[in-house]
Amino acid sequence: MAKLQPLPVKNQRPTIARQTGSLSAFLRTRLLGQDHALDAVVPYLEMFEANLNPVGRPAGIFLLLGPTGTGKTRTAEVVAEALHGSDRQLLRVDCGEYQLDHEVAKLVGAPPGYLGHRETQAVLSQQRLESISSEYSRLSVVLFDEIEKAAPSMTRILLGILDKAFLRTGDNNPVSFENSIIFLSSNLGVNEMARLSRQGMGFLQGCEALSSGTGAAEARERKLHETAMFAVRKRFAPEFLNRIDAFLTYRPLGRDTLEAILEQLLMDVQVHLDVRLGLQTFQLCFTDECREFLLETGSSIEFGARELKRSIQHWVLQPLASMVIHKQAPPAQRMQVDFSAKEGRTVFRLLR
Ligand SMILES: Nc1ncnc2c1ncn2[C@@H]1O[C@H](COP(=O)(O)OP(=O)(O)OP(=O)(O)O)[C@@H](O)[C@H]1O
Ligand SMILES: [Mg+2]
Repeated sequence: MAKLQPLPVKNQRPTIARQTGSLSAFLRTRLLGQDHALDAVVPYLEMFEANLNPVGRPAGIFLLLGPTGTGKTRTAEVVAEALHGSDRQLLRVDCGEYQLDHEVAKLVGAPPGYLGHRETQAVLSQQRLESISSEYSRLSVVLFDEIEKAAPSMTRILLGILDKAFLRTGDNNPVSFENSIIFLSSNLGVNEMARLSRQGMGFLQGCEALSSGTGAAEARERKLHETAMFAVRKRFAPEFLNRIDAFLTYRPLGRDTLEAILEQLLMDVQVHLDVRLGLQTFQLCFTDECREFLLETGSSIEFGARELKRSIQHWVLQPLASMVIHKQAPPAQRMQVDFSAKEGRTVFRLLR
């Protein structure tokens, strides 16, 4: 009779998200306006947490589709943050770097005896996966970004990972992805989706209707999803797509969501100042005019929130850096950040 194997001991330590309340609620505060995507991902995270994830396959496999700057990459980052306490604790494979077959070889490393064997460490190795787990969770977050750009040989490597959660590196070492949650992101169909958005939804305000749950909004959402799926089916073979647990189409971000993302990013700026300047830090207050200016320069239906960070860096952080260097930003003071229409730029005032 077959001997019963003991179940692997589960990591009993609480995750960051569990310490701060429900996982879903935590994720929703970090990724805005894409609740439908989080609702699809959370059950897989919980299955892993409960030690009920399937044997011999990754804990979850998601293909994230939709317009640029809407939170696809951010999704993997916030899941890493929820699990491990840092949104940088993930393995991100930028598929744009693996467009040729010899570049794909870097993923698994060269076999012994081949040129470059000693110098090339496999990007996908057991050690690497374990280094992105943490004392809070054994689950590693792996993101294959923009998979449509990868060479066909990479799709073959991915097939093995998605199907059996298994990979053999160039030096013949096994790599298990059973303790990994895998996000694949793709921009397939975005041009067509952008055209639909422009036609049917108007700029930003129209997109809010997407989340209002009306019949017309649901129909538009379905249309976006179908458009993305049509492009995906044209590019990837059914045996690849069959291994994916959920296809998630991200919505264009509406005005309210962009405003909320801006608030989040402005809070991040304050935290950045506090951490980096320590006792020399000062308090920023943004006027509504400044917020409006940042929103206008940093977001659009075409580029989502992608430019917001750059806009904040250009119009807020860079002038502030210059003020810090020239000792024009005294510690512990309040500094107002306003927008001057006359000068077409942000202006800074000390508030007494
Ligand atoms: N839904 C969102 N909630 C919170 N922040 C967001 C959201 N979408 C975008 N952002 C902000 O915009 C930045 C860029 O978003 P992200 O990298 O996730 O875009 P993407 O959908 O992956 O786009 P691309 O297709 O161009 O890779 C994020 O780092 C984040 O600051
Ligand atoms: Mg991305």
